[in-house]
This record gives sequence, C-alpha cells and structure tokens, in this order.
Amino acid sequence: MNLKGIKLTWLGHSTFRIETPAGKTIFIDPWIMGNPMCPEADKKVKKADILLCTHGHGDHIGDAVEVVKHHNPLVVGIYELCLWLAKKGAKKISPMNKGGSQTVGDIKVTMVHADHSCGIQDGDEIIYGGEACGYVIEFENGVKIYHAGDTNVFGDMAIIRELYAPEIVMLPMGDLFTMGPREAAYAINLLKPETVIPMHFGTFPVLTGTPGALQKLVPGVEVREMKPGVTIGG
Ligand code: NI
Ligand code: MN
Repeated sequence: MNLKGIKLTWLGHSTFRIETPAGKTIFIDPWIMGNPMCPEADKKVKKADILLCTHGHGDHIGDAVEVVKHHNPLVVGIYELCLWLAKKGAKKISPMNKGGSQTVGDIKVTMVHADHSCGIQDGDEIIYGGEACGYVIEFENGVKIYHAGDTNVFGDMAIIRELYAPEIVMLPMGDLFTMGPREAAYAINLLKPETVIPMHFGTFPVLTGTPGALQKLVPGVEVREMKPGVTIGG
C-alpha cells in the first residue's frame, strides 16, 4: 500500500484520522473520546479540518458535536444528518447525497450507497437521519480510498469499482450490525482493491468477525490489520 505522503491512523471501530500531504486533518466517523478502542493519547483531538460522517449511529458520530465545538471543522454528511449536526452546533456544513461529489479542502469526496439503517438517537428519541452511506475519497496525490461505512455487501459495489477503482478499501466485517467475513470477502471480489483495511470488529464481544478469518477467504488480496493509534504512511 503506497499512501504517497498521506498519514493514516485507525482509532478503532470505523474511525480514521487522515492527515493529507498538504497538512489538513480529516476524521472519518468521529467516535473518539467514547470509543473504547481509541488509545488515550488520541482521544485529545489537536486539529480537525473536515469530518466525514457515514451515518447517524452513536458509534460513528458519537463525538462529532464535541469535536465541532472545539475545532469548528467542515462537516460532510447526508443532508438530514448535516442539518441535525447544524442544530447541535456545527457552523460549517456541506451536505450532499448519494452519487454526488464535492471538493472539500484538498480532497474530492463522492458519496456512495451503504446498505444499513440511519436513525439518530437524540435523548430518548430516534430521529430520521437520512440514509447510511459510504465515501470514495480522492486525494490530491491521486490515492483513492473507499470507506464503506456500516454496510452489508451489495451488488452495486461493482459500480464503485468500475467508476472509481479505489485501491484501498475500508470494510466493516465484525458481523451482527454489518457484514461478517463471508460477505466482506464477496465485497472484495466485487471491488478488487489492492489493500483491504478491516474495521468495525472487536470493539464489543458481539462483533466476532476477525481480519484473520477474512484473509483466509481472500488469499490473493492484502488484508491489512491496523493497530489503533498506529500511523502508517507519511
Ligand atoms: Ni451503524
Ligand atoms: Mn456501527
């Protein structure tokens, strides 16, 4: 996997911190302080320029409001989710919907489908949060990363491959609330990436899928298990 100057850090579950070659800090799914997999040192957010939110579940946007309060990042998400975050204090939002692309900072993001639900828990209410999505991110150095959000495998991953051809894909595979290794292996056959970064596993005992189980099913593809807080690339 050649990141060509991008620094990539997994904070556990589906949360990634990405530093671009130009020095922007992006969080995908900002569940940080409340994330049991996140190392203590990384719970102190130093900088946040952009938040990419895949859907409204607490294990994805659980600390978005907190990060917004201290760093005022640009928040990207599906329309309804962005409006909800604006109501909670986000000053800079850039809503979009599936199939749309936009340039934010020095990255181009395309919102793609995810097969998942998207209620937002707000106090004791569940609010309509639009739909769950994934993102294809194209960096200024040409690297393309697909973060699938929470999802089952779906046939239109073949379209993602044909239209965008991301070389790195971040796939949930912990089972129960997303696909498990069997479905993730099928997704890899559709997406044909160079590298797979597994996510959404091991956070809780019920998320039983493992990167090892996935690697066995796709021997020809690099399944790169990251360690929370350990930065690769740069
Ligand atoms: Ni979810
Ligand atoms: Mn989740």
